[in-house]
Amino acid sequence: MWTAKKLVKAYLDFFREKGHAIIPSASLIPEHDPTVLFTAAGMHPLVPYLLGQPHPEGKRLANNQKCIRTGDIDEVGDASHLTFFFMLGNWSLGDYFKKEAIEWSYEFLTSKKWLGLDKNKISVTCFKGDKDVSKDEESAKIWESIGIPKELIYFLPKKDNWWGPAGKTGPCGPDTEMFYDTGKKKCGRDCKPGCNCGKYFEIWNDVFMQYNKTVAGKFEKLTQRNVDTGMGVERTVAMLQGKGNVYETEMFTLIMKKINEVAKEPNEKSTRIVADHLRAVVFVLADEKGIVPSNVEQGYILRRLIRRAVRHGRLLGIEGSFCKKIAKKVVEIYGDEWPELKKNSVHLLKEIEAEEEKFAKVLGLGVKMFEKIFKKQGKISANDAFLLYQSYGFPLEMTVEIAKEKGFEVDKSAFEKEFEKHQSLSRKATAGKFKSGLADNSEITVRMHTATHLLHAALRKVLGKHVQQKGSNITPERLRFDFVNPEKVSKEQLEEVEKIVNAAIKAKIPVEQKEESLEEAKKEGALAFFDAKYAPEKVYVYTIGNISKEVCAGPHVKNTSELGKFKIKKEESVSAGVRRIKAVLE
Ligand code: ALA
Repeated sequence: MWTAKKLVKAYLDFFREKGHAIIPSASLIPEHDPTVLFTAAGMHPLVPYLLGQPHPEGKRLANNQKCIRTGDIDEVGDASHLTFFFMLGNWSLGDYFKKEAIEWSYEFLTSKKWLGLDKNKISVTCFKGDKDVSKDEESAKIWESIGIPKELIYFLPKKDNWWGPAGKTGPCGPDTEMFYDTGKKKCGRDCKPGCNCGKYFEIWNDVFMQYNKTVAGKFEKLTQRNVDTGMGVERTVAMLQGKGNVYETEMFTLIMKKINEVAKEPNEKSTRIVADHLRAVVFVLADEKGIVPSNVEQGYILRRLIRRAVRHGRLLGIEGSFCKKIAKKVVEIYGDEWPELKKNSVHLLKEIEAEEEKFAKVLGLGVKMFEKIFKKQGKISANDAFLLYQSYGFPLEMTVEIAKEKGFEVDKSAFEKEFEKHQSLSRKATAGKFKSGLADNSEITVRMHTATHLLHAALRKVLGKHVQQKGSNITPERLRFDFVNPEKVSKEQLEEVEKIVNAAIKAKIPVEQKEESLEEAKKEGALAFFDAKYAPEKVYVYTIGNISKEVCAGPHVKNTSELGKFKIKKEESVSAGVRRIKAVLE
């Protein structure tokens, strides 16, 4: 049987045979990208390399990447939408292009040695062309030459057959998608690959990343022609096993079983939502970047996922706390493959339990008030929603969701107006980040990135070697650096840190980049905080004189003199034993 494990192994073996280096999954939290909250595709961490920076592992890469897509959160519970999923991908960084990519996809799908799918059930789509980029006849010809009949090659517009950029600007291009006919009846005369009725199952997407979308909205040819592909593991396994939905595969059955054991009023949709959300929560909390539930950015999504799981638990008739039990099962199922889950299990279970407890109180009271208002008025106005939020901490999404179940809408924009007046949390900023993707590696963020290395080194010098990076986030306005330290950093210590960083800037030290194995890097004393299991074969080491040496993907400035004046703006606590510094370059 095609289990997830078997599929992942086959895929990576196949691409290894085709000369690809297998790279580890990147963190779920993008490192140097101010505009995106989570890694949503395997290409996200590879953007600098798609744009031309050489990758230390070469021009052919493949991996199994952990991904989060929160845009689909309302769809979760149907047959295939998930907030967290695994995506298999192979990349050519200016190496092979359409011919090899398409031929290899076809070989992997149909060869008896690999997936062995029925050739006659495969159809494909190619880009139809528009005012910016012409029709992709080339891909269609390649498909024809390997045996896909002309009538099973469809041309679709940009909304279907174009991928990227991940954000407003960046690498993108036309794609060709492969579909498998599930044997279901067509839902209508227009039913064809791309239709969501379930007849055509989308297996794989080969993107030809040949363009860079600029700020002005132009599509400029990139200096190199890349391939970026993506195959969702959960969906593909469900299809290979002939299952109607992802929750019937071994990736979910034991989690579903555990939920059903505690559910008093079983309901498939809520069980699925709890299973998806808590699986996502476990992986985010286990991530090395140390995200915890909070009111901003990734921490807010985490909070929202836990809260939603708790509420759907209530819909299943579960009264007491249950999330920890389910999360434990997730750790058990995925822990061998993803060691960060086991390593951080105590921490993650504790966070889940605490957040569940906190929210359980709010939820009980909030739902009661909601029902009371609803009974009286037959609806919930934006003002009521705001009062529920302000007085009971009852989140707007939850009010909107319950209202939807009862068949009415809450005026979100009126709520937001009210909300902005009170300025607690910038929903706008969060929503913006959902949609948009990567920012440019603009000059200022590169400078901030180098400053972050200097800050890290200075903190270790002043506070001690226990200091280690827990998270980094850079926007054009400021850098933010989270690190392990048991107590508050004093004013004097902060001044000392500032002094060391500014002295390094004044000293005009060149920043050197070197490529070597992780082992060699560590031997030389380079800082590297990731699991050996995930270590790629070759890494980049950035050295700044005798001040800093870190394993890092870059990019960095050439010389510290480019940085300007470094200033710490704030020092605060993030969670037990983790501090946060916000700093700027003036
Ligand atoms: N980046 C492409 C996708 O996510 C492969 O579909």
